[in-house]
Amino acid sequence: MSYHLAIVGATGAVGKEMLTLLEKRGFPLKELTLFASPKSAGKTLSFKGADISIKALHEGCFKGIDIALFSAGKKASLEYVPQAVKEGAIVIDNGSAFRLMENVPLIIPEINAHALKNHQGIIASPNCTTTVMLIALAPLHKPYTIKRIVASTYQAASGAGALAMKELEEETAAVLNNKPYERTVFTHPYAFNLFTHNSTLTENGYVEEELKMVFETHKILEDPSIKVTATCVRVPVLRAHSISLNVEFEKPITKENAYSLLKNAAGLKILEDPSMNRFPMPLDATGQDDILVGRIRQDISQANTLEFWAVGDQLLKGAALNTIQIAELLCAQRVT
Ligand SMILES: NC(=O)c1ccc[n+]([C@@H]2O[C@H](COP(=O)([O-])OP(=O)(O)OC[C@H]3O[C@@H](n4cnc5c(N)ncnc54)[C@H](OP(=O)(O)O)[C@@H]3O)[C@@H](O)[C@H]2O)c1
Repeated sequence: MSYHLAIVGATGAVGKEMLTLLEKRGFPLKELTLFASPKSAGKTLSFKGADISIKALHEGCFKGIDIALFSAGKKASLEYVPQAVKEGAIVIDNGSAFRLMENVPLIIPEINAHALKNHQGIIASPNCTTTVMLIALAPLHKPYTIKRIVASTYQAASGAGALAMKELEEETAAVLNNKPYERTVFTHPYAFNLFTHNSTLTENGYVEEELKMVFETHKILEDPSIKVTATCVRVPVLRAHSISLNVEFEKPITKENAYSLLKNAAGLKILEDPSMNRFPMPLDATGQDDILVGRIRQDISQANTLEFWAVGDQLLKGAALNTIQIAELLCAQRVT
């Protein structure tokens, strides 16, 4: 069986990765329709050696489409996802618009594929930082029960889209050449600097990205009792997010226990060479499907607590790859 698939936001950082993955993974395609904003309509993107013309969204544009992968920002999702469902498509949304809604499964296939069956037309793919974190921690929750997570993130430009990556490159070149540079994406200097994550600062002092890590963790692990606190920081790395994780468990756990569970877990690799003080770096994770984990060690300040370092290409597992894995699960369920 093959499917008519659409990508909404095909020209974006995530959308382009989706195109590459569809080809690489041999997704069973009957037809592929690409959408972007009206400014891209009529331009083309290459897929399997052929040029596909990009379309703008309009009434009726989802008729005949089986699965629509949305990756065009919250505003476009809020406006067009209901239309897509009404016109008969199943939507997998990459943005935050629907993630916490009751009838919308929030899926990381390695963790909670079982929740997919509850969908009513919309399925959400989680926040990229949350996905990197949970791929590293979920295998430990059932046997040892996570009590509290303290996360500190080091987030790349790519998490903010194609224009943010361009801005980091251009601003860095401008600074090195002693030239002025006018930023259009970020408020603060990005080259040779870092700043609090650029999502909205909320009343309790947390930015939205930090709160996504809290509430999406509760939903995906189906356990609202897990205490989560996060500090999210944008660092001048082009691609791949890194996270420092301090995790307290209900039950006694050693670093050996963690290594033995994680070394066989799906979607991650342990990468480290302690003799060289060599642990996962964003450059290692760039272009990789797996989340890289290392530096697992006992927290010397507290019992039942471990430290972790996780790095992942959030354009892939944090977005495009996770979305396509969900689409593959849907296809498998329809076939069987
Ligand atoms: N970047 C990540 O790591 C990441 C991770 C998880 C989730 N996400 C989510 O994925 C989405 C896309 O992120 P991105 O990083 O790929 O952003 P991006 O590089 O800025 O791309 C945005 C895409 O959306 C399209 N678009 C914008 N407005 C549209 C409209 N009204 N109708 C149709 N298409 C429209 C753009 O088309 P034009 O090129 O024509 O402007 C472009 O294709 C966002 O919702 C983001 O929150 C991103």
